[in-house]
Amino acid sequence: MKKQIPFLDLSRIDQELKSALEKKFSDMLSKGIFSRGEEVETLGKNLSKFLGTKNTIIPCSNGTDALEIALRALEIGTGDEVIVPALTWVSTAEVIKLVGASPVFVDTDSSGLMDLEQLDSLTTPKTKAVIPVHLYGKMVDMEKLNSWAKPKGIKIIEDNAQGFGAYQNGKSAGCWADIGCFSFYPTKNLGALGEAGALSTSDKSLAKKIEMLINHGQPIRDKHEIVGRNARIDTIQAGFLNVKLAYFQKWQDKRKYFASLYLQHLSGIGDLILPESILNSDHNAHLFVIKTDYRSELKHFLQEKGILTAIHYPTIIPKMNPYLSKGLFVNSEKLTASSLSLPLNPFLEEKEVLKVIQQIKIFYSRTS
Ligand SMILES: Cc1ncc(COP(=O)(O)O)c(C=O)c1O
Repeated sequence: MKKQIPFLDLSRIDQELKSALEKKFSDMLSKGIFSRGEEVETLGKNLSKFLGTKNTIIPCSNGTDALEIALRALEIGTGDEVIVPALTWVSTAEVIKLVGASPVFVDTDSSGLMDLEQLDSLTTPKTKAVIPVHLYGKMVDMEKLNSWAKPKGIKIIEDNAQGFGAYQNGKSAGCWADIGCFSFYPTKNLGALGEAGALSTSDKSLAKKIEMLINHGQPIRDKHEIVGRNARIDTIQAGFLNVKLAYFQKWQDKRKYFASLYLQHLSGIGDLILPESILNSDHNAHLFVIKTDYRSELKHFLQEKGILTAIHYPTIIPKMNPYLSKGLFVNSEKLTASSLSLPLNPFLEEKEVLKVIQQIKIFYSRTS
């Protein structure tokens, strides 16, 4: 069988990183600290430093828990409405239901970002928060969203699960809102070797509350001041993330380079619409999402050539059973029908990216 080009193969990390992770694991085994501890504290500080923010960054169990904790910290619950994009990973809407509030879905623009022009028409006296999602790694216009929400007293929770490493006007994604939420799910640009996430806020008292919410409501051991839960990060994952952070920029450079190859060679090919702004700093090149009316034919063709692609996402949230909701979601629906994510990650070889390009060109030379 011919060698496949995977969409993302996380076993392809290089020997240097593998050895660094093995050493970290061995050191942690010797220390015997498997919950909280120095690695977790260091990770919060390392992340703030790396992102160039004065915000407090609080590592936690995963991105979904980060979003749910953010809603609880802002005391959003029964009877409240939260505006959320129709196209996103399910967690963004799921957490709203989990705290007893109601998601109100808004269409995206043609690139998949929440359509800010529609927010006014969806706002009611019950609207307590809005959750912008930096989908595919491209940032929502946060200046604009802040100036819309702040005067109305509407809170912003930034779903930055996909946007680590993107900056708008020099300010990091995840640091623009009342609370920013990060995911370090293994496939993210900065991924753990398991589940992990973080919350970010500039508000010191909110930071303290978040610390308590993720740790059974305790400011100190055995003193339970509020109802919390266990949403602590796994200490071993914090240790691995401390190691992996040092490799992040090198990987970002590779992502951007491969994205530039796709842009250079695929522009003007067939009916393809490419993510033009992917090389800008407000995009972290998490996913390279193309749009075509021949999505299923192209996906199938590439698969036959051993090239694996993905769809982010095949269904809008308001069409899923637990979230059924009426409304017009024209751009989001169009994306579910026409978008295709090409392999884009730092573990690819340049020749593999060129092969993807070559096969896409062959596909279109046959269909035109
Ligand atoms: C947009 C978005 N929101 C939330 C999440 C949830 O993060 P996690 O998988 O770490 O719970 C993800 C990642 O899976 C995501 O892509």
